[in-house]
Parts: sequence; structure tokens; C-alpha cells
Amino acid sequence: MTHALVVGGTGMLRPVSLYLAAKYNKVSVVAMSDRLDSLVSESDKINPIRVDYCNTAVLDSALQAATNEFGRFDIAVIWVHLKKAPEAPYVIAKYVSGRYIHLLPSWTADPAKENQKLQKERHKRFEEIKNLNYQEIILGWQGSRWLHNDEISAGTIYAIEHPKQKQVIGTVEPWSAKPL
Ligand SMILES: NC(=O)c1ccc[n+]([C@@H]2O[C@H](COP(=O)([O-])OP(=O)(O)OC[C@H]3O[C@@H](n4cnc5c(N)ncnc54)[C@H](OP(=O)(O)O)[C@@H]3O)[C@@H](O)[C@H]2O)c1
Repeated sequence: MTHALVVGGTGMLRPVSLYLAAKYNKVSVVAMSDRLDSLVSESDKINPIRVDYCNTAVLDSALQAATNEFGRFDIAVIWVHLKKAPEAPYVIAKYVSGRYIHLLPSWTADPAKENQKLQKERHKRFEEIKNLNYQEIILGWQGSRWLHNDEISAGTIYAIEHPKQKQVIGTVEPWSAKPL
């Protein structure tokens, strides 16, 4: 049994959830809204996990239950609002034995000292987790605008198919050219 996870898999990552459903036996998807039902109606491989990822204890037990049933995650694609749920990415990592693909907002590429310090701390914490192949995708911008959903999902699928430790969708340079 192969098992994938997409956290935040009903929004801009919906095509990624369905892409993984074509490749894995089961795809657990974490979200809260009715968009989960629509995803389930599109593929019987989707295992809906309806929890608020800000509540890390509830998230932890829901992931424990999903992995008890379908096995540990061979691949995980994670889009978590870091400011709302800073610990959630590490709780999720406990259940992954394989690729952990972490989507990050553009501010994580801000060259300001404080952000670089946070980056280093994040890398260090993920490096300490065994059996994890950590890969990050930074969501940048395109010309003078932010990315569209289809660019984010296509860029994520490209990153799944072309593994690299760090990838940027669009650009994050120069930082001064970031859209308002
Ligand atoms: N650099 C860039 O250009 C950039 C970066 C990020 C975003 N964006 C754009 O901004 C738009 C909005 O972004 P968004 O973050 O709202 O993305 P989104 O992917 O449309 O929605 C967030 C996802 O996370 C889930 N979610 C949110 N809070 C949750 C919680 N507390 N617990 C469990 N699941 C939760 C949502 O599920 P449910 O709503 O189904 O419950 C949904 O699946 C995107 O459509 C994208 O185009 C652009």
C-alpha cells in the first residue's frame, strides 16, 4: 500500500491531490471545508482528514489514525500557514518516511536577518528528523504579480517529478521587486 499526504490539498493544491491519487493507493488530504467532499467525489483514493491544523494535538491523532490504517506517508506535500500553525509542519513530519515537500510563502526568502535566522532554524529541525527527505518549494512571483493557482500546482507537480532540495516557483529576486 502506498500512501501520500497533502495538507491544504483542496485549494491551490487540488490538482496535486488528484495527481497523487493517480499514482498512489491512498492520498490523505487535510482541510476543513466542504471542498474535501468534492475532492472525495472525484477520486475514491482520497482519504479526507477534516481537522484544523492549528490544533496540533487533533492533527497529530488524525495523522496517527490515517497511518495506522494505510501506512506511513511515502510522500507528503505540505502547505500550512506558518504564522497560524508554526508547529504543525513538525507534527506532520513524524508520520513521513520519504519525501517531505514543503511549500513556503515568499516572505521566507526575505534576505532580512530575522527571516534568514528562521530559515536556518527550520532546516536544522528538519535535518534532525530521521528518514525524511526534505525538499522546499518557495512560492515567489511572476513579473509584477503574485502566482496564480495553476502556476503553483504545475510548479509543485514539476518539483515532485524533478526532486531537488530547493526550488522556487517564479522568482524571489531581487527582493526589492516583490509585488505589493
Ligand atoms: N507567492 C504567491 O504568489 C502565492 C503564495 C501563496 C498563495 N498565493 C495565492 O493566494 C491564494 C490563497 O492562498 P491560500 O493559502 O488560501 O491557499 P489555498 O490553497 O487556496 O487554501 C488553503 C488550503 O489549506 C487548507 N486550510 C487552511 N487553513 C486550514 C486549517 N486551519 N486547517 C486545515 N486546513 C486548512 C484549506 O482547506 P479548506 O479551505 O478546504 O478548509 C485549503 O486546502 C491562492 O489561491 C494562491 O493563488 C500566492
